[in-house]
Amino acid sequence: MQSLGILGVGELTEKVVRGLRRSGFDGAILLSPRNAERARALAQACNCEVMSSNQAVVDNAAMLLLGVRPDSVAQLAAEITPKPGQHLLSLIAGLDLQTLQATFPGAVCVRVMLSYTAQFNQSTVVIYPPDETARICLGPLGSMVVMDDEPAFELATVAACMNGWFYFLFDDLQQWLVDKGLPVEQARTLVLGNLEDCLASARAHPDRSLKALGQAIATPGTYTAAGLDVLNHQPGSATWGAACEVVFDALLNRPPPPSN
Ligand SMILES: NC(=O)c1ccc[n+]([C@@H]2O[C@H](COP(=O)([O-])OP(=O)(O)OC[C@H]3O[C@@H](n4cnc5c(N)ncnc54)[C@H](OP(=O)(O)O)[C@@H]3O)[C@@H](O)[C@H]2O)c1
Repeated sequence: MQSLGILGVGELTEKVVRGLRRSGFDGAILLSPRNAERARALAQACNCEVMSSNQAVVDNAAMLLLGVRPDSVAQLAAEITPKPGQHLLSLIAGLDLQTLQATFPGAVCVRVMLSYTAQFNQSTVVIYPPDETARICLGPLGSMVVMDDEPAFELATVAACMNGWFYFLFDDLQQWLVDKGLPVEQARTLVLGNLEDCLASARAHPDRSLKALGQAIATPGTYTAAGLDVLNHQPGSATWGAACEVVFDALLNRPPPPSN
């Protein structure tokens, strides 16, 4: 198994490391030293090594995972020189491939989008461009989706935001049940259980559209249809679409590249 260097030990990279170890990744995992306490704790929990500098991570790892926030990229880039041909898997949302290549010359850059469920090996893992090394390394974190072009990858980033938004929708639905008198745990079980029913049905019928699956339930005269009439009258999907547009616009009209 190849070794992996983590540049930026934070929320997301920590979950990637946990997921990799959980899936049996037995290569060395080398951590950047910043945020020392967090790095030490992760090293202890997941059998990693905290290196003395970012360059030491680069020098001793076959592949690199970049997990700093966008405003830290320039400083990090000034601290390291990747090895020629070294894979650099970037988790940074909105940082396009051309800028990545210019910022880390010599590295083979791949963009990656995934969610916190990587720690349970159940994330949607999106990569661009297609890359066998990235696919093999990150595949165990969940379901891999390989994008052939960058605008498609940006759309996948919007989809990753939906993951975060869903929690708020489900919380609203749970809260409605609670306001009507159900205990919180029961309300949560009902909302998540019905969501899981929906996912199970959609997965069992990949050939049927999501709309068709819903229409098969909301047949005329049903309670589901009565509620759907209200939803269609005041479509919440318009608001969701607007949120998607705002994020997509921000990704396409990103600020100028960080200087090296
Ligand atoms: N969180 C998500 O769900 C998600 C999803 C998709 C993509 N992303 C992307 O993932 C990236 C990380 O997000 P996050 O929420 O995990 O951020 P985070 O928790 O803030 O982690 C970033 C880590 O990088 C460290 N760092 C900053 N500059 C560094 C340097 N020069 N050398 C080494 N380490 C450095 C930070 O240390 P300090 O705290 O000391 O600055 C921090 O420990 C972002 O670029 C984001 O766009 C996140």
